[in-house]
Amino acid sequence: MRKNIVAGNWKMNMNQEQTAQLIADLKEAMPSNDASVMIAPTFVNLAKAVELTEGTNIEVIAQNMHFEASGAYTGEISADMLKSIGIQTVILGHSERRAYFGETDEILAKKVKAALDNGMQVVFCFGEELDERKSGEHFNVVESQLKNALFELPASAWSQIVLAYEPVWAIGTGETASADQAQEMHAFIRKTIAAQYSNEVADQVSVLYGGSVKPNNASEIFSKPDVDGGLIGGASLNAEDFSGIAVAFS
Ligand code: 13P
Repeated sequence: MRKNIVAGNWKMNMNQEQTAQLIADLKEAMPSNDASVMIAPTFVNLAKAVELTEGTNIEVIAQNMHFEASGAYTGEISADMLKSIGIQTVILGHSERRAYFGETDEILAKKVKAALDNGMQVVFCFGEELDERKSGEHFNVVESQLKNALFELPASAWSQIVLAYEPVWAIGTGETASADQAQEMHAFIRKTIAAQYSNEVADQVSVLYGGSVKPNNASEIFSKPDVDGGLIGGASLNAEDFSGIAVAFS
């Protein structure tokens, strides 16, 4: 079911002590409204974060996983390992994974399938780079990212998918897409899904926006009809900022 979500991608930040402190601060600061709250600490702190958020409405999610079930893949983490410590949701396809770690649409299609086969929910990230926006290619890029990684899935799988449109030029740059640019792309994403599947599938999927979301721009972006919340990087590392973004749903 389509819902409002505010998700914090902590990336490679926060050691265990800092993780515990930030979770303690979030427990104090987060507003109670209808938005689902997710945080994605780094792998080594996931188990601790699950323990520290028990009994709260904060869901701890992973930033990545491998598509194989087990075996000789040094340094990798499987869906089963994540589930065994209470993780039900994984971010896949982040632009930093694509750019720095060579993750292609083909690899991502395998990861999405592995997560879904394990009964997990996926927050799937995608979005165009600056030169692609400047040359007017952004709709084509987004369409092919969706098609290549997700459009082999059966319609029934989409209840386990959350989309996160993150234009690369807006990530960590302080430059956000305008609320109108976000709405325009989110409407396009829904139209593309409706054409491949159905209006029903397109209407029920939550589509988050990510890229320099801050307390001072969240309400305008989230007020758009096709924007169901945000995937937050930098501002999720500070409880005041993250809760200041979550109140945009109040
Ligand atoms: P920033 O909010 O720091 O721009 O990062 C967005 C992001 O990459 C979330 O996944």
